[in-house]
Amino acid sequence: MDQYAVFGNPIKHSKSPFIHTLFAKQTAQKMVYKAIEAPIDNFESTLNTFFAGQGKGCNITVPFKEQAFKYAQQLTERATLAGAVNTLKLTDDGVIIGDNTDGAGLVLDLKNNHVPLKNARILLLGAGGAARGVCGPLLAEKPQQLVIANRTFSKAQTLAGIFDQSGDITACEFAKLSGDFDLIINSTSASLSGQVPAISPNLVRPETAIYDMMYSAQATAFNAWAKQQGARLIIDGLGMLVGQAAESFAIWRAIKPGAKQVLNELRHNLAD
Ligand code: ATR
Repeated sequence: MDQYAVFGNPIKHSKSPFIHTLFAKQTAQKMVYKAIEAPIDNFESTLNTFFAGQGKGCNITVPFKEQAFKYAQQLTERATLAGAVNTLKLTDDGVIIGDNTDGAGLVLDLKNNHVPLKNARILLLGAGGAARGVCGPLLAEKPQQLVIANRTFSKAQTLAGIFDQSGDITACEFAKLSGDFDLIINSTSASLSGQVPAISPNLVRPETAIYDMMYSAQATAFNAWAKQQGARLIIDGLGMLVGQAAESFAIWRAIKPGAKQVLNELRHNLAD
């Protein structure tokens, strides 16, 4: 049977096997999907073994996305721009293609939540790997502007430079942010330590959509803060996780699973 997997370290708590197993059931695909912990210094040979067996495709997560980028024999344009790979596929011709579905997963979830992106003024907080992965797909939706703000300003400048051919993208310091944004996306890892990026509360209007790429059973630190500022539409990254998985599944199996049922079940499990 065709085998799929997610590779990471650590990987025990990955939700990907749950998600993809439900997708396979939903779409009647005969396949198995498991979580594999690759040794930190032995990622490549773990992948070689997988693809030499029944492995047809896999997801890659922390800390291997850049290594997977190097491992792939061919890259999609969005993976090249993202500088990281979260999806590998072995083609019938034996070629391993690297893709990145993180940004598409975010865009899918924003659309599922009816957040308009065309002509929107978008503020993206953070300039690490997570931010880089979503810039291309966000710009492809033709927002009016995409402002990248980061605690370390130079990193925001570098990121804006990578994408400046793709749309109206600029870098800004946290302290200098002003104006009206329709959507604020938090890609920083600040919520992991219960912190909120040091931006003005005035940037959050009731009609500003808020998206934290992190998720947790309770509201993330950023989303709780945005709620205090009066934001009405506040979303966390669980839907992005399901969205990127749905995109990967479609790449492997040429059939697009539905995200809604899986997202509902995950949300339910998170609360347990
Ligand atoms: P990832 O791959 O998740 O993006 P990363 O590349 O380590 O991880 O990037 C982490 C991002 O979170 C960076 O933009 C970081 O800001 P700096 O570049 O200034 O380090 C941001 N970040 C982490 N903790 C933060 C905090 N408490 N406040 C603001 N930004 C924070």
